Amino acid sequence: MKSCALIAVLLALSLGHYQGAEVAEPVAVEGRSVSSEIVELLEVFRDLLETGYGPMPKLAPAEIKHQPFQFSTGEFSANGEINDFVLEGLNGFEVIIMNVDLIRSRVDFELNFGSINFTTLYQADVGSGYRMKREGGAYMALEDFNLKGRISYSLGVISKQMKVKSILVYPSVGNVASEIENLSQYRIFNRKLNEVVEEFITLTVNENTDFVANWLNEMVTPLCNDLIGDRSLSDLIAIITGAKK
Ligand SMILES: *[C@@H]1O[C@H](CO)[C@@H](O)[C@H](O)[C@H]1NC(C)=O
Ligand SMILES: *[C@@H]1O[C@H](CO)[C@@H](O)[C@H](O)[C@H]1NC(C)=O
Repeated sequence: MKSCALIAVLLALSLGHYQGAEVAEPVAVEGRSVSSEIVELLEVFRDLLETGYGPMPKLAPAEIKHQPFQFSTGEFSANGEINDFVLEGLNGFEVIIMNVDLIRSRVDFELNFGSINFTTLYQADVGSGYRMKREGGAYMALEDFNLKGRISYSLGVISKQMKVKSILVYPSVGNVASEIENLSQYRIFNRKLNEVVEEFITLTVNENTDFVANWLNEMVTPLCNDLIGDRSLSDLIAIITGAKK
């Protein structure tokens, strides 16, 4: 979620930067050069994911030594903890589309991630009515994970102040791999349970895309405007160009 917002802010910044400048180039050419500037900024962002920056921790890989968790839906509940959690692949994106349309004030993009996956150890007390203790290793991956979307913005006539109007992101996933040990003590049944998990995640990502898009838009758009509004544009550009070095 945070990284999504950060991408959007980077996009917003480079747009604001260009719109603010006086340009004599034809708009289409200008749009293309803004597009390639954004692709470049995403490369900077990739480096920041790998090293962390300021208050943002290193996210590729992201590591959590220990984290208790708890959830319940209706009858079913689980609580327990994860240890030695490692998330990989947030930096493994390829830019498929980056298309800035300055006339319509929008950015169309598509990013593809080869594999976003985590490994962890877990312990859990799960069940509905009866309780079962489970523990073991777990691996889960979203393979061929795609983010396609559109950011629409507006610019103040005089101030050139940028405002994000909407951020629509449609995720889809090619394949989900789930290898959670010890869901059942029987190997065959354990595989079946993992298949249920794989199918559930695949459907959740691929078939609720409007729901996910609307939800992200409601969450991320105000966040972006907050982030942009809090600091002056030149301050933020200085931060990014500073980080580039
Ligand atoms: C997990 O993701 C990373 C980064 O995308 C990748 O290099 C690695 O091969 C993946 N692990 C597996 C088991 O596929
Ligand atoms: C969990 O599963 C692994 C691999 O299947 C097995 O070696 C281990 O004994 C299991 N642990 C428990 C607590 O059942």
